[in-house]
Amino acid sequence: MAKSLQQALDEGAQKLHAFAPEHCFEARCLLAHHLQKPKSYLFSHPEAILDPQVEQAFFACIKKRASGFPLAYILGYADFMDLRLCVNDAVLIPRNDTEALVTSVLKFTNKDANITCIDAGCGSGAICCAIKHYCPNWHVLGMDLSQAALNVSKANAHAHQLDIPLFRGNFLECIQSQSIDIIVSNPPYIDPKSPYLKADGLEFEPSQALIADENGLGDIKTLFQQANRILKPNGLLFLEFGFDQIDAISNLAHKYCFESLEIQNGPFIAALQKKAS
Ligand SMILES: C[S@@+](CC[C@H](N)C(=O)[O-])C[C@H]1O[C@@H](n2cnc3c(N)ncnc32)[C@H](O)[C@@H]1O
Repeated sequence: MAKSLQQALDEGAQKLHAFAPEHCFEARCLLAHHLQKPKSYLFSHPEAILDPQVEQAFFACIKKRASGFPLAYILGYADFMDLRLCVNDAVLIPRNDTEALVTSVLKFTNKDANITCIDAGCGSGAICCAIKHYCPNWHVLGMDLSQAALNVSKANAHAHQLDIPLFRGNFLECIQSQSIDIIVSNPPYIDPKSPYLKADGLEFEPSQALIADENGLGDIKTLFQQANRILKPNGLLFLEFGFDQIDAISNLAHKYCFESLEIQNGPFIAALQKKAS
């Protein structure tokens, strides 16, 4: 028998109960997505009868989500700060902690200054798109090793009409010495042996976005080295890092001649300034 929206919603939420803490919210997102309606429609039309094809597609997605597949990949988008970004399994799903990284950039800089800022490992483009959105006068660049990720960041920059040159590279090795004011990066920083990789649907996200050698510190070390070379004197380096890497970040900052403006320990964000000489 055909189901009403409310019946489908209750059944969907019930099937997600053991897998997703926000099972009611997620079921609503998925049903609204399949109906191509805002979520408010579900509240205003609970007794409307669900088309059998939509019902089938909805419960297929509920099953996929119950297998651990991330909601954002099913929906095809994630919200980051004020921007809705398209995502697929070529990119990390943008996280709330990374919003704190962008907030730190905005806190320590002048959005009207003449600034060149690069997002190293831009993935979906979350960081570079948000920075360009809030600081339209800056020259903001994004780069990634993955062409598939760059296709997503390009689509997001285009969708939000943000002029962001995006290019492929091995972090910042092709950038000229002392040419950049600000580097921002949420690099891969998880130890390949970390049990955390088995949690929270991370197994569905691209491993090159998550894992770094040297106990998760390999890419962070590369970025410190490159930042020391390409930042202008007094240039700024903003990094996201792992919960157990705070001492390593302080040591690397010292080794590569950076002063700490702020090192937060949850979310784990460092705002660092290159010493003038
Ligand atoms: C943790 S994800 C961050 C994605 C995005 N910036 C965000 O915060 O949601 C790290 C990104 O670094 C990229 N990456 C990994 N190794 C790289 C390298 N050697 N050079 C450039 N990018 C790299 C990955 O492809 C991935 O997109």
